[in-house]
Amino acid sequence: MRKIKRFFARHIGEFRIAPRRAEVAAALQTHFSLPAQPQLLLSGSRGHDSIYRVAHAGKTLGMLRLVNPYRKRKKPAANMPFVSVGTDRRAAREYEACQAGAAAGLTPNPVWHATDALCCDYMPLSPLHARLEKNGAAAWDLIVPVTQALRRLHALGVVHADVSLANTLGDDTLAQIVFVDFEYEPAPYIGAGAARLYDYLRLVESSWKFLPQDKRSLPQNWLALLSDIAREEGIVRADVAPLLPALSQLCAAGVIAQIENAL
Ligand SMILES: Nc1ncnc2c1ncn2[C@@H]1O[C@H](COP(=O)(O)OP(=O)(O)OP(=O)(O)O)[C@@H](O)[C@H]1O
Ligand SMILES: [Mg+2]
Repeated sequence: MRKIKRFFARHIGEFRIAPRRAEVAAALQTHFSLPAQPQLLLSGSRGHDSIYRVAHAGKTLGMLRLVNPYRKRKKPAANMPFVSVGTDRRAAREYEACQAGAAAGLTPNPVWHATDALCCDYMPLSPLHARLEKNGAAAWDLIVPVTQALRRLHALGVVHADVSLANTLGDDTLAQIVFVDFEYEPAPYIGAGAARLYDYLRLVESSWKFLPQDKRSLPQNWLALLSDIAREEGIVRADVAPLLPALSQLCAAGVIAQIENAL
């Protein structure tokens, strides 16, 4: 039933955004100097916005996020440490994050933007979530390098607020790790340290249910890394408490004290 509802909501949202989509396609035709409008092929479906692969003559030219005010999404609960970025600022938030991260290869490079849309270079990488689903036993081999990449993203002044392996792309060797989807931001009452800590903990929280039982513990190397990062980023023990409502898996697993001890 939920799937059917989502299907209709998605199609109604796409129908209502069609006039704006046509304007954006025209603008992208000019931007890419194309003889005809590019195809906008719907790609993502779970978020607030419409995500399209921009294609022309069999080639992918970029990935487009078009803010879609007609896609009604549930607001995060008031006790969550993150909020959805408003439709008026969403494209700007994504643009700023991508501008900051692209030079270091940590986000896609923005190539065109408008107040409600952003087109980035297409990254020939795959979402790491697929690898997690395929081989949960190797989850920490993904989480540790993604934690290190997050640390580099934070050093550029960018907090993600919705980190998961589904919003992380990588190559086979994980030499390149790229973050996408900046449609949330820290809630206004969340301090800077807690906002940064949430990125690291949400990465683990969102992966937890895909871990086999014998991997559902925090490995020493990840705890040591978190400890190092906390010192560098000014994260303290008190930053954990406001994040707990969003960390139900980690709370149920009884690993919060271990995290606090690492800080
Ligand atoms: N610049 C890019 N290069 C390559 N792939 C991308 C790029 N941007 C997004 N993607 C792909 O599109 C997917 C959806 O993007 P994003 O996470 O920003 O939107 P979403 O609304 O959360 O969509 P979804 O419902 O698929 O999670 C990503 O998981 C990734 O596979
Ligand atoms: Mg996403």
